[in-house]
Amino acid sequence: MNFYIMTLFPDMVMQGLTTSITGRAMQKKLIQIEAVNIRDYTTEKHGQVDDYPYGGGAGMVMQAEPIYRTWEAITGRIGKRPRVVYMTPQGSVFHQGMAQEFAKEEDLIILCGHYEGVDERILDLIVTDQVSIGDYVLTGGELPAMVMVDCISRLVPGVLNNQESAEFESFHENLLEYPQYTRPEVFMGMRVPEVLLSGHHARIDAWRQEQSVKRTKERRPDLFPGVE
Ligand code: ADE
Repeated sequence: MNFYIMTLFPDMVMQGLTTSITGRAMQKKLIQIEAVNIRDYTTEKHGQVDDYPYGGGAGMVMQAEPIYRTWEAITGRIGKRPRVVYMTPQGSVFHQGMAQEFAKEEDLIILCGHYEGVDERILDLIVTDQVSIGDYVLTGGELPAMVMVDCISRLVPGVLNNQESAEFESFHENLLEYPQYTRPEVFMGMRVPEVLLSGHHARIDAWRQEQSVKRTKERRPDLFPGVE
């Protein structure tokens, strides 16, 4: 899968995503991530990409032209017009199901906003989806784009190894993960639950299921109706 991230901070995006599992997936050519600098496509002197809002008000607005030209360069080069996701707190809130939908795409373009947003006309012209990563406001769309790319990438076949993909199962069932323990058996006087040391797999599975249900009811009752 190919991600094209339109941003004013390509280094920020690439530094984050070339690390760890997404970085390994890039090396294995399972995913391709390209951060394209919008500033490279401005026709204004001094590399300007934003301007004052018409009608007045605080902050600056990202201009339509450099974003449009960035999009033209990407779509022209790849000869396709993939979905364009604009990261904004005004978008639909991202969730696992949305990641599964996006993971079906061969290519995805992501637009990171900054300042007080982007000229509305760019949304009308090229943007197909508007996505928020939660009800809080960040300084820009780069971290949200990284969150989304990370979440989608791990669904691409081969990106996770067997052990890593097994971890995914618990969330799949709409339950939170059960408590995990590793050595030593006693830490600061606290013992690992006896059942986990029993070697009795059926009892361990039952205990984990029970813990997951308890935890989900306590912490995320909103997730619960989805469970049989
Ligand atoms: N840009 C700023 N805040 C954001 C958020 N919560 N989600 C997506 N994009 C954003």
